[in-house]
Amino acid sequence: MAIPLVAVILAAGDSTRMNSKTPKVLHPVAGQPMLEYALANAEALSPSKIYAVVGAHSPEVTAYIGKRAAPILQKKRLGTGHAVAQLLPQLKSFKGNLLVLYADACLVRPQTVLALRQFHLLQGAAATLLTARVESPFGYGRIVRGKEGEVEKIVEESHATDEERRINEINAGVYCFKAQALVQALVSLKVAQAREEFYLTGVIPPILAQGGKAHALMVPDRTEVLGVNNRNQLAQAHRLWNRRRVEDHQRGGVTFLNPKTVEVGPRVTIGRDTVIEGNVKLAGTTEMGEDCRIESGSVIHSSRLGNGVTLRSSRILDSRMADDCDAGPFAHVRGGCDLAKGVHVGTNTELKHARIGEGSKVGHFSYVGDAVLGRDVNVGAGCVFANYDGKNKHECRVGDKVFLGSNSTLVAPVTIGNGAVIGAGAVVTRDVPAKTVVVGVPARPVKKN
Ligand code: UD1
Ligand code: CA
Repeated sequence: MAIPLVAVILAAGDSTRMNSKTPKVLHPVAGQPMLEYALANAEALSPSKIYAVVGAHSPEVTAYIGKRAAPILQKKRLGTGHAVAQLLPQLKSFKGNLLVLYADACLVRPQTVLALRQFHLLQGAAATLLTARVESPFGYGRIVRGKEGEVEKIVEESHATDEERRINEINAGVYCFKAQALVQALVSLKVAQAREEFYLTGVIPPILAQGGKAHALMVPDRTEVLGVNNRNQLAQAHRLWNRRRVEDHQRGGVTFLNPKTVEVGPRVTIGRDTVIEGNVKLAGTTEMGEDCRIESGSVIHSSRLGNGVTLRSSRILDSRMADDCDAGPFAHVRGGCDLAKGVHVGTNTELKHARIGEGSKVGHFSYVGDAVLGRDVNVGAGCVFANYDGKNKHECRVGDKVFLGSNSTLVAPVTIGNGAVIGAGAVVTRDVPAKTVVVGVPARPVKKN
């Protein structure tokens, strides 16, 4: 029978070194809160239960966790050992293994956590920890090994001798324990009644004293072991995750001209031969087709782009652009826009909640809000859809092949029939029948088109 597993995420630490109003573990790293990575890592092992140790002052953390983990309150933050000891009642009669994850170890990959458990089971260890050799071990717990290379203890920076400080194998903050071995060790350390800081890392010697084995799995990619304690490490974590995602997309056939400056969220897909320039942000649930060109300064959030879409320094938020659309420079497309194939959106144009038919053009500094436009419509320079009357928003409908002259204003709600022409500077306050030419303020028909 498989040995049962429960997981615990330590997320109650304070945010002192972050100097933040927001709990540290909720700070976003490359598009999602740090805590999300730990939750995903725990979930990857399908434990029978996930606990999260949370602090009294961060209800936001408990709210974020929702039903994904059972919150365990740590009233005083007395260290990682004390945090795990909050689980003693739950662990007392539990015969399986416990996975411990630090919520700020957000670069550890799920496959590494899986490998750690595998190694733990194979070795029949009482404690298995994840380690890595790093260039600058400062601030991390150092792994002290005996003559045979066996793990003897972990020493924290503050307690390390000069010689121990030179050790560059560090503790990543991911462990598998035989739950009963850990319980005994914690009890022997009297962590539960702690008054001063108690380190989880202190459990190795008592576990060995009980006759348990301690092992370490060294992860080859040392970027996985970064712990985020301050804003500098937060920036590093952000960069590292972006780099990983960029590399994934590169393998998928995407070109990045300046990959170091690109941000790619966790739920972004990009088609082959799409080219992404520098200083681009791709976020939310975003899907992009093949052969797109995303020029520098563009932001795409929760949007769907077809094939062959070109963006020039533009923002596309919660919207869809079908094949061969283009936008910008400096277009702002937001609020559920839906652009059919080949729609052109030009310089300094804002579209909000607009549905635009195939081949239509909104060329220069216009605002189109709450509107449905047919196909082959031309929206002249500086047109404004006045959708707000001071209290409510209203919608405009514009038929196929309508020509809106430069600087015309549509005072919503109005409907413009197919093939109508609106003269430059007209202010349209009433519906315009199909194939009618209107001019003036307020706009009046002058002839049939
Ligand atoms: C810890 C380890 C260190 C390791 C490093 C890896 C200890 C004593 N030290 O140091 O060996 O190299 O992580 O990044 O474990 N937390 C609580 N309650 C507390 C204190 C902390 O829940 O009372 C949580 C924090 O939210 C955090 C995690 O435990 O997610 C680690 O705590 P932190 O203070 O960041 O430990 P480090 O000093 O980084
Ligand atoms: Ca830390």
